[in-house]
Amino acid sequence: MDFTYSEEQELLRQTVRDFAEKELSKDAQQRDAEEKFPKEHVKKMGELGFMGLQVDPSWGGGGMDTVAYSILIEELSRVDASLGVIASVNNSLVCYGLEKYGTDAQKEKYLKPLAQGMKLGAYCLSEPGTGSDASALQSTCSKDGDDWIINGTKNFITNGTQANVYIVFATEDKSAGYGGVRCLIVERDTPGFIIGRKEKKLGIRSSDTCSLIFENCRVPLTNTLGDPEKGFSIAMSILNKGRIGIASQALGIAVGAFDAARDYAKERVQFGKPIARQQAVQFMLAEMDVRIHAARYLIYDAANRKDRGLDFTAASARAKLFAAETAMYCADKAVQIHGGYGYIKDYPVERFLRDAKITEIYEGTSEIQKIVISRNALKS
Ligand code: CAA
Repeated sequence: MDFTYSEEQELLRQTVRDFAEKELSKDAQQRDAEEKFPKEHVKKMGELGFMGLQVDPSWGGGGMDTVAYSILIEELSRVDASLGVIASVNNSLVCYGLEKYGTDAQKEKYLKPLAQGMKLGAYCLSEPGTGSDASALQSTCSKDGDDWIINGTKNFITNGTQANVYIVFATEDKSAGYGGVRCLIVERDTPGFIIGRKEKKLGIRSSDTCSLIFENCRVPLTNTLGDPEKGFSIAMSILNKGRIGIASQALGIAVGAFDAARDYAKERVQFGKPIARQQAVQFMLAEMDVRIHAARYLIYDAANRKDRGLDFTAASARAKLFAAETAMYCADKAVQIHGGYGYIKDYPVERFLRDAKITEIYEGTSEIQKIVISRNALKS
């Protein structure tokens, strides 16, 4: 497999790095402290084409490949992982689903403005009692004339208070198990759609996470996304792509932590020399470096499989599992290399450590990734 970047991918990396270092870096700690959603930065990301990077240009997107998408999310997350997940959810969980399963009318109405960054999307699967066991969802939808009526509560919704377009999963028939799940598009201003509690989080604190309440929320039947009988498979297949995004977010956190640790180690003098000359520190940097490279290649393997039209379910689960562990490892070692300074908020590494943890949890916990990987392995 050829891992050489194309000119277009190199240019994208430089563009995103410039944006992240010039515009995101200086206030990242403050946004984290204030839990402030970066509205202006998200608007700018839309203008730069970062919110629909892979969407076909005819629907307002950048038409780039999945390695490019990974580069985008890595570079954002290297500086501020909150921006990484905001972009990842819009690109993967919303635009990808709409482009893959939507009708032309749905693409015109919803995908175009989302891909152009004029609107923001959210993906609503989890519920207070339904996390890993995603098909056990309790939110209901029932047909009434030309409409669906949705009732229930969604939980931990990224971009929740800020979005305009919501991809919502609800069951029409609980007795049918996953076969009862439908996938519906809900607009923010729909009567009966209520924004719930905004969560206070350990990390990715300037990304927005909330619950949503549906009280007899009525949406037209034409807002059904994809084959109504296949709602659960649609949820899962969207997550396959999403997991490449979260793996890339984890990679970005790992790289950010590595860069900070390397720079600090070259400056910090103890025992009469920079600590980078201590073998204990060199070994930590070497371990971080190897894991970062391995994570990146697992992500590009999943991206390549996707772009070649091959099944990438296990590949994206492998990439997410390993990249999330890498983010945790690298952020932890970066704090260790910083010593006491790593434990205070003057340096970004404590934020990287807090941000890294979520990559082992959302879009399927590490344990769920192992289930996906082992089921695939046991097939053959
Ligand atoms: N890709 C495509 N289809 C899939 C699939 C996948 N990865 N996994 C399952 N399916 C399909 C199956 O083929 C089957 O459909 P058919 O009968 O038509 O073939 C159907 O879905 C049911 O499959 P299973 O019997 O395997 O389903 P299960 O109940 O055993 O669940 C699971 C499988 C892997 C545990 C799944 O429930 C899962 O992934 N859980 C984790 C949920 C998750 O990731 N939640 C994250 C929330 S979103 C979020 O975090 C977003 C955010 O804001 C950042």
